[in-house]
Amino acid sequence: CRAGSCHACLVRCQGDIQDNQPDALSPAQRQDGWRLACQCQVAGDLQVEAFDPLRDGLPATVLSVDWLTPSVLRLRLQPERGLRYRAGQHLVLWAGSVARPYSLASLPQEDPFLEFHIDCRLPGEFSDAARQFKAGDSLRLGELRGGALQYDPDWQSRPLWLLASGTGLGPLWGVLREALRHDH
Ligand code: FES
Repeated sequence: CRAGSCHACLVRCQGDIQDNQPDALSPAQRQDGWRLACQCQVAGDLQVEAFDPLRDGLPATVLSVDWLTPSVLRLRLQPERGLRYRAGQHLVLWAGSVARPYSLASLPQEDPFLEFHIDCRLPGEFSDAARQFKAGDSLRLGELRGGALQYDPDWQSRPLWLLASGTGLGPLWGVLREALRHDH
């Protein structure tokens, strides 16, 4: 994305670096040296290590792969350990060395899996790999992003409009269920 939102460009740095968007990562991640390469400029001597999904990613197992339509793949994953997230956030999925951010369509309090809706209409490195996924396969997950899309319980008494098309409906499905969970 080159805009600080997808987090596919994570690197670990030590040295002189100018970070133009420090708040894109959590203080703990920054403390560990993580930076978004697309948001940084080298200011002096620097040691840089790329994010290695095998070493730094969270292993996850494919639970199921279903076609919701001829071009939309529903992927359900079981991460090796529980993840804290809010409905509407997104995660970076790694298939081999290819990383792509996908919105979560699952609801943390209710679904015992992570669900993603993958748009496979067009050929692409990740969607081509996703077409081959099968139950039992292993994937890696990148770190969580805050993400601006979420349901605020303070909205309970207001009308709620959720507008999206295509796989953009995935995260709204999570937000909708979150709203209903709050008796919206
Ligand atoms: S390329 Fe997307 S955050 Fe850097």
